[in-house]
Amino acid sequence: MILPIYVYGQPVLRKVAEDIKSDYPNLKELIANMFETMDNAEGVGLAAPQIGLPIRVVVINLDVLSDEFPELKGFRKTFINPHILEVSGEMEDMEEGCLSLPGIHENVKRAGKIHVHYLDEDMQPHDEIVEGYLARVMQHEFDHLDGKMFIDHISMMRKQMIRGKLSAMLKGKVRCAYKVKAVKI
Ligand code: NI
Repeated sequence: MILPIYVYGQPVLRKVAEDIKSDYPNLKELIANMFETMDNAEGVGLAAPQIGLPIRVVVINLDVLSDEFPELKGFRKTFINPHILEVSGEMEDMEEGCLSLPGIHENVKRAGKIHVHYLDEDMQPHDEIVEGYLARVMQHEFDHLDGKMFIDHISMMRKQMIRGKLSAMLKGKVRCAYKVKAVKI
């Protein structure tokens, strides 16, 4: 089932999300819905707060990039209760967008390497060092679980440039190709 994506201004996007227990109700269905919602919106990642749930669940699909990066073929994974333990490596600058910030694309500096801990969809623990594009997507998505969005990482000057778009969103004015839940005023 395709769910509406919560847009900038919705308070749930600014909450710190909670870890879930293995008996979280209808988890498989929730994950399937998150993949369907992400695919429909043509995103590479979706965090549960973006569908209104303040819990630590993220789906990532990097298969869409496999033409350019063959090693990403078939990469569709769920990350439950993820936590970044350490960031390292060179800071890298790359343009990002977000399904909760339609129409906004800005360069964001992020660490090139992360040490991450998470559970997969079978609740098996993983402890990994991740680099490259996946490290960037993970940092973006896991930020959502800490109430952060990519615009928090851009300069005051760039934020000033997108102020009009942000204030339109705060007034509930959003135009995009997928179903959203904008702020009601
Ligand atoms: Ni995002």
